Amino acid sequence: MDVFHINLFLLLSQSMLISSSLIHLDGNGYKGIVVAIHGSVPENGKIVQNIKTLFSKASEYLYNSTRNGVYFKEVTIVVPSTWSKQPEYEIQQGNFFSTAHVRVDNENPEYKDTPYTLQPGGCGDPGHYIHLTPWFLEELEGKTVEMFGAPERQLVHEWAHLRYGVFDEYGIPGDKRYPMFYHENNKIRPTSCVRDIKGWIESRDGGPCSITTNGDVDTDCIFIPNMHSNEAKASIMYMPFIPSMEGFCDDDTHKHNMFAPTKHNAMCNYRSTWDVISNHPDFQTLRAKRDTSSEFSDTLFRILQSPKSANSRYVLVLDISGSMNGQPMKLLHSAATRLIEDRVPDGTRLGIVEFSSTARILNNLTEVNNVTRDQLSRNLPAKDDGGLTAIGKALEKAIQVLTNDNGTAEGGLIMLITDGEENVEPFIQDILPGILKHNVVINAVAFGSNASEKLENMTMVTGGRGYFFAYDGKRSSYALDSAFLESITSQADVELQPVQLKDEMFDLDEAVITKYVYIDEELGKDTVFTVMSSHIERVGDLILRSPSGTLYDHTYQQYDRDDRSRQRIRISVPESEAGKWEAIIRRRGDSSIQVNFAVTSEPKDVRDQPIRVRSWMNEIQLQFPAYAKVYAEVKKGYMAVIGATVLATIERPMGSPVDIELHDNGVGADATEDDGIYSGYFTYFNGNGRYAVIARVTNDGQARLKTGSKASAAPAMPIRKGRSKDTPVGEFLPEDFEITEKNETANETGENYEAAKKFDRVSNAGAFRVQAWKEDAGDVIPPGDITDLTVISIFKFSKNEDKVTLQFTAPGNDMDAGQVSSLEIRASKNQEELIANFENGENISDVYYNSPYPPPPGENTLVTITVPEVLRGNDSEAWTIYFAMKARDEAGGISSGFNIAAATFGINKKNHSRRTEDKHGGEEEMLEESLNTSETEKNSDSSSDSGQNGNISSSSFHWWPVAVTTGVVLIIVMIAALITVVILKRNKMKTYFSVQSAQC
Ligand SMILES: *[C@@H]1O[C@H](CO)[C@@H](O)[C@H](O)[C@H]1NC(C)=O
Repeated sequence: MDVFHINLFLLLSQSMLISSSLIHLDGNGYKGIVVAIHGSVPENGKIVQNIKTLFSKASEYLYNSTRNGVYFKEVTIVVPSTWSKQPEYEIQQGNFFSTAHVRVDNENPEYKDTPYTLQPGGCGDPGHYIHLTPWFLEELEGKTVEMFGAPERQLVHEWAHLRYGVFDEYGIPGDKRYPMFYHENNKIRPTSCVRDIKGWIESRDGGPCSITTNGDVDTDCIFIPNMHSNEAKASIMYMPFIPSMEGFCDDDTHKHNMFAPTKHNAMCNYRSTWDVISNHPDFQTLRAKRDTSSEFSDTLFRILQSPKSANSRYVLVLDISGSMNGQPMKLLHSAATRLIEDRVPDGTRLGIVEFSSTARILNNLTEVNNVTRDQLSRNLPAKDDGGLTAIGKALEKAIQVLTNDNGTAEGGLIMLITDGEENVEPFIQDILPGILKHNVVINAVAFGSNASEKLENMTMVTGGRGYFFAYDGKRSSYALDSAFLESITSQADVELQPVQLKDEMFDLDEAVITKYVYIDEELGKDTVFTVMSSHIERVGDLILRSPSGTLYDHTYQQYDRDDRSRQRIRISVPESEAGKWEAIIRRRGDSSIQVNFAVTSEPKDVRDQPIRVRSWMNEIQLQFPAYAKVYAEVKKGYMAVIGATVLATIERPMGSPVDIELHDNGVGADATEDDGIYSGYFTYFNGNGRYAVIARVTNDGQARLKTGSKASAAPAMPIRKGRSKDTPVGEFLPEDFEITEKNETANETGENYEAAKKFDRVSNAGAFRVQAWKEDAGDVIPPGDITDLTVISIFKFSKNEDKVTLQFTAPGNDMDAGQVSSLEIRASKNQEELIANFENGENISDVYYNSPYPPPPGENTLVTITVPEVLRGNDSEAWTIYFAMKARDEAGGISSGFNIAAATFGINKKNHSRRTEDKHGGEEEMLEESLNTSETEKNSDSSSDSGQNGNISSSSFHWWPVAVTTGVVLIIVMIAALITVVILKRNKMKTYFSVQSAQC
């Protein structure tokens, strides 16, 4: 498996970095950072000024915290076109907001004014953007400081999320996966990095903190660090506002706390943030140039503004070389004609370049309108010219077309369609450095399987996207149309882009086929229904029925049929009803034909945005053995849509496409549960070449809108309300809390949901390319990781026998697909040792799975184990055991990462007994045992990643007061608790119970 990891590592350094790809180091300084202000933000020059102040200060802090490593050298600020012109603003066309690294936009309903980073990837993967609100910037040196501390530290905190893929090191009150407190033997500690941060605890209203009899710290309880006399130097991923914070946790002087249940520990396999950051390609590059000394200079700013009537500038670059002969040329011609005649919005400035052995401008940039539309489409090449493939020349011509227009190519988009390997100089790599200077985006459609492999790198470094269009044989797809549509609209503000509801390929193998589509209430402007086929003459008709029964057929004014160049039937409804529409497609003649059915619609009111879907892959060039991660974000504005059904269809080099389901469950490929970003692994490779990915999203009745989404938010500075004068400490004892009877259930931190109406969406994620795949490679993709291992309950089975029930989500044989061949549980008294060397942990052999073994992938599984004698502690004091799990496949592949679940036995008998004596007088023995278990419950919460154990543990402890007052024999109570767990799991209770009894 080492080979696998090495490959993966090499690939990470050249992976597709979404928007962050354009940030680069020049010496020690970052260039290419774009901060864009959304058009809805009211004009305020102070915002621009304060962005400069913020970045200038943050640059210095970043430089210091990265140990004279990196700083912000050049930052581009983009102001809305609606703001008044200023002499220092450069006028520049282009849509910068959706690709900006830092967004200044109105608040996200969940985060309000707290800065956060959208960070959907795994450890080390770049985030998508940092979100700052206008208020945060306007108040930069006033209220922002009161609320968040020095704002430049907040920015560096977010920058570390965005650029280096590290995660938060603080806990969240009430959070089950990343709680604010965790237990370590008899102590209750604040979740933090480093360990020696001192402070106080109090409830949000300033009162004392409480703890339940089962050890749960109240969700209202917060840790308030001592702001002004703390000595802790790290970490700014913890509480950047503590003035003493200088940098990131590392493995020596700012010793990383691997015991804390932080998101960072869970996501990054317990590595310190500095370890992750210093292994980022940026720092590897710096180290490689060891001889050059570190530089630092003031941050330079450039301010851009789009012209008011900004029209996107777009150049189509079409391959007409000999290899396009025949069907490919026909398909390209009809798709390009549909694009120009049906799709390009009025006002777009469009140019056309064709190329084979040389390149030729067919049209300089021309404003598209009723008159020019026809001229432009008539200029489209219909035939190949038998020539070679000069991609470099074609791109140079495209730059020239953009430059001819207004003197600069910047902000323009080039859409290159080619089917071949370039064979005429200059080559892509020769001209790419020059092209990068022009700041243009290049999207590319690889037409067929022979298109140059250099396309991926080119699109990636220009911030563009690659698509794949297979035309050979049966697997003809219409991805070309959606690639065109996405490219042409990507230059407009997201709020103005049309929404793709359907894009479906099927065989018209019956006389009539009916398709259904839901049109949302927010949509309905210019709804376009299209049936396309290269045998369109054999499609009899397209008839629509609206939800209220109105029919739209060939007599409708906006019905249009073109059997020749565009090869489609199209019905455009300017104002369409919301609800379920019916599309009746009739066939002409008897033979089956392949058709594509597509529906798009636009929002009726830009201020009331519909649900939108965005999809992408983590990498676009894979070196086998590897896997692809596919993501789809489903949101309405900044609100996450959860519970949707998300399928990704992957077209492969051979055979039929595969569907994989994407999940928003915080397990496997998915970084965060319920954030509206659905993720999944793709491992079903069957050849070298390109794989095209389309995501489809529907509401099967479970979809709900959440009034915000979990991303990474820096915490607002906690303020001490209480008047306790005691000295700040770094850890707490149970007696520092008030004991309550309240059984704290996992109240989901006040999240609000609203049922979503039915909807249909499709999003073209583009393509990725696989190389070095071998037919006979065998099973080289390892099982996924178990990162949500949780202790559900512990119990004394007999005097010398302790048992623990663990819960986890089963991984797959190849990441999350297929069934693993075995599971391995290791345990140790030393967490650090277990993390460092899983194989040296004690192999737990006495296990009982309450469901089929090995479990199917994705199965929520329970296993009860007996603590081996060697790990048992002395019952006179508290002892903790740490557990971890890995999965194996038949080929010997093994999971790479894991999380640690902790179980503590015999904790703190004296204190709790004393405190609870009055309430339960006498029954000391029972209480002690009950507290032991409860303590472990809490421990399990804190040290594991399961979001699901909250309900289970609290439910099982409804049994305790009963047990205590009735004095039922301990073992029976334990079994009862387990049964509760089992009932909750709705699993084979009978089998489980009989096995347990038999063992008695
Ligand atoms: C495009 O514009 C350039 C510069 O203005 C001009 O030299 C060239 O002839 C134009 N090409 C076409 C096809 O119009």
